[in-house]
Amino acid sequence: MPSALLELRQVSKRFRRDDEENTLEALGEVSFTVQKGEFLSIIGPSGCGKSTLLRIIAGLITPSTGECLHNGQLVSKPSLERGLVFQDPRLFPWLTVRENIGLAGNRSEELLETMDLQGFGDALPHDLSGGMASRVALARALAPRPNLLLLDEPLANLDQKLRSKLQGELRGIWKKEGVTCILVTHDIEEALALGTRLLVLSKRPGRILRDTPLMCLEDREALKPQVLAWMEG
Ligand SMILES: Nc1ncnc2c1ncn2[C@@H]1O[C@H](COP(=O)(O)OP(=O)(O)O)[C@@H](O)[C@H]1O
Ligand SMILES: [Mg+2]
Repeated sequence: MPSALLELRQVSKRFRRDDEENTLEALGEVSFTVQKGEFLSIIGPSGCGKSTLLRIIAGLITPSTGECLHNGQLVSKPSLERGLVFQDPRLFPWLTVRENIGLAGNRSEELLETMDLQGFGDALPHDLSGGMASRVALARALAPRPNLLLLDEPLANLDQKLRSKLQGELRGIWKKEGVTCILVTHDIEEALALGTRLLVLSKRPGRILRDTPLMCLEDREALKPQVLAWMEG
């Protein structure tokens, strides 16, 4: 059997507080695999450990138990093979759009076009709208051609209209670039609109309550009340 693109084995995270005795269980034990080409949405209540989980996958923090394998290799530090986009675009303010995108790869021109940013290559981040800045952050993450794109509520700061538009674009990029995506969000509409599969996490410490494929549109609509109930429970 071909191995999964990503495999988490009994991963959990406790943060130490002031002393050894006093710890906070941020993420319960989670195990799952992600196959190449999936768009996995992970939804859970605020504070349940979603960002912690994504940071473990990214290699930014080490899990307290378990391990995370990407292409069969133990994840121990960040890698350009894993693109990362946060809620806040975190662009370098002193670099132009083109330079921000080109930092980790040399296909800025192509990505400016993909992201509908033609004509803005020489602009500085403070000249951009929120939606444009989010698109630049996405382009920057895609520049090194990662095989895994990790998205931590990348559209949470945008208004509803722009958000829907960028959701459509994100789905288009997933298809065009052939990149496997993992999106964490607390927005049920977004999780259902984008994913090919949905993981529902419990309240902190987050554990997997449901792992379900998202087939057709009708399925997605029917899932809404169920997901809300699972998250409550
Ligand atoms: N570096 C850290 N040190 C201590 N506690 C943390 C740290 N990062 C997150 N936490 C705590 O872990 C819990 C889960 O946080 P987080 O993963 O950010 O949740 P979510 O992204 O689902 O809102 C929260 O209670 C948060 O305060
Ligand atoms: Mg978070």
